[in-house]
Amino acid sequence: MGTVLYPGSFDPFHLGHLDVVEQALHLFDGVVVAVMHNPDKPTGVLGTSLRVDIARAACAHLGRVTVEPFPGLAVEAARSAGVAAIVKGLRNTGDFEVEQQMAHTNLAVGGVPTVYVPCRADYSHISSRFIRDIAQHGGDVSSMIPSATVSLLAAQFPPRSAR
Ligand code: PNS
Repeated sequence: MGTVLYPGSFDPFHLGHLDVVEQALHLFDGVVVAVMHNPDKPTGVLGTSLRVDIARAACAHLGRVTVEPFPGLAVEAARSAGVAAIVKGLRNTGDFEVEQQMAHTNLAVGGVPTVYVPCRADYSHISSRFIRDIAQHGGDVSSMIPSATVSLLAAQFPPRSAR
């Protein structure tokens, strides 16, 4: 079934993202997690190398997964990674509206199709934005991020208990 590109800003990579990677591994031969820039999210806070390190730590226990930073367009990343398709996770209809427009554009502009994976119902509340918000205030985000990434995020945002 080939390898797919999973592009995102991953600011930070969380349990919902890991679920998408794990579901994609059941469907495809491999997953390239592409850490990218979302121009609609200028308020992202983690630098590219930390976002890559966190995603790598989250996926380290999985075979057939690589994590790479990619500048530029998702369709260019797909081409340079040599993948046949893009995979995206959907939490709700709001995600669908945004993703559908990107999927149509990526197919029209780059000829790259997109496959959607519905997220686990118990992860549908998880978002990188809220994780950043809670972590920046010293709150506990450990229920929303892979355990292998807790210390990396805590180094950036010391929890209230450690202040
Ligand atoms: O995790 P996000 O923020 O929802 O991911 C969005 C992302 C990074 C995949 C999207 O902004 C993107 O593809 N950025 C790369 C630039 C690009 O290809 N833009 C055209 C999209 S149709």
